[in-house]
Amino acid sequence: MKIAIFSAKRYDREFLSAANASRHELRFFESHLSEETAGLAAGFEAVCVFVNDQVNATVITTLDSLGVRLVALRCAGYNNVDLTAATKHGITVVRVPAYSPYAVAEHTIALILALNRKLHRAYNRVREGSFALDGLVGFDMHDKTVGVIGTGQIGTVVAQILVGFGCPILAFDPLTNATCQSCGVRYVELDELFAQSDIITLHCPLTPENRHLINAAAIAKMKDGVMLINTSRGALLDTVAIIAALKSGKVGYLGLDVYEEEERIFFEDRSGLILSDDVFARLLTFPNVIITGHQAFFTREALLNIAATTIDNITRFETGQVFEKLAG
Ligand code: NAI
Repeated sequence: MKIAIFSAKRYDREFLSAANASRHELRFFESHLSEETAGLAAGFEAVCVFVNDQVNATVITTLDSLGVRLVALRCAGYNNVDLTAATKHGITVVRVPAYSPYAVAEHTIALILALNRKLHRAYNRVREGSFALDGLVGFDMHDKTVGVIGTGQIGTVVAQILVGFGCPILAFDPLTNATCQSCGVRYVELDELFAQSDIITLHCPLTPENRHLINAAAIAKMKDGVMLINTSRGALLDTVAIIAALKSGKVGYLGLDVYEEEERIFFEDRSGLILSDDVFARLLTFPNVIITGHQAFFTREALLNIAATTIDNITRFETGQVFEKLAG
């Protein structure tokens, strides 16, 4: 099949080309897929997209008119795809449901530990020749209660790791997970999780219903100085409300790998440019905030799995084999 690969970076070329081994005809485009760029898919039977490509109803209508039959997501989350529109147009949508929960879970733990022990500040101090410890005091993880929102693949690994630290784990998920329960995780209502947790970490998908799940009302129910971690999707947090809570001290630590307006910022080198997003710029001013640019998935193992599953999804679609699809 001829596949147009959008938002392609050097690592996408490397890993997808290796997994493909000349089976399909791959063409890499650096541009995001959007209403403006959808025309680039002319002549292709499939498009391959990533987290910040826009696959809304307008884009899907254009793709259909160009003869595209398959949207292959090379990620797990699909909040950027209008599945109803895809079904209406008979376009199949596939994704990579699992590639390495360990990658995201371990990055989540990295954010928690770095914030707690202020590694970002310590690193800079030591490089400047300052070995003063003032302001670097952390806390024992042991016995701190962690609230895990979403106990699917990633949330489960996060919980398992934190059990090893000696943290009591509270969880909220509409579905209970037997693996979590067997390692001592206690399922509670969201309000109890908010009230009891010293650290709250998000591992649920973004849906229209849970947009801004963490808003001013939710924050008001939390412990003073709570640590919030979001490696899921940016819009699960109301960033403006979080900034107010950071200013008041209600939120004591914030670790983000995602941001609600990230498609205009992340995945590019903008070091020589003026940052025009004032909300994001304000976040960067806090000493108790660490932001990474959607890199939680970014391990060699995950990239290998993403590439292999994406090529396999495309081959299965082409050859009419059984495969898991989201739409179409
Ligand atoms: P999963 O599908 O295995 O688990 C998601 C869990 O969330 C399920 O148990 C589901 O019942 C639960 N859930 C759904 N709505 C909920 C709600 N409103 N409140 C609480 N729980 C809810 O997904 P997985 O693989 O664990 O991934 C979780 C999320 O992580 C993805 O949706 C994606 O947004 C994000 N992600 C981020 C990456 C990164 O690089 N930062 C990479 C991969 C995924």
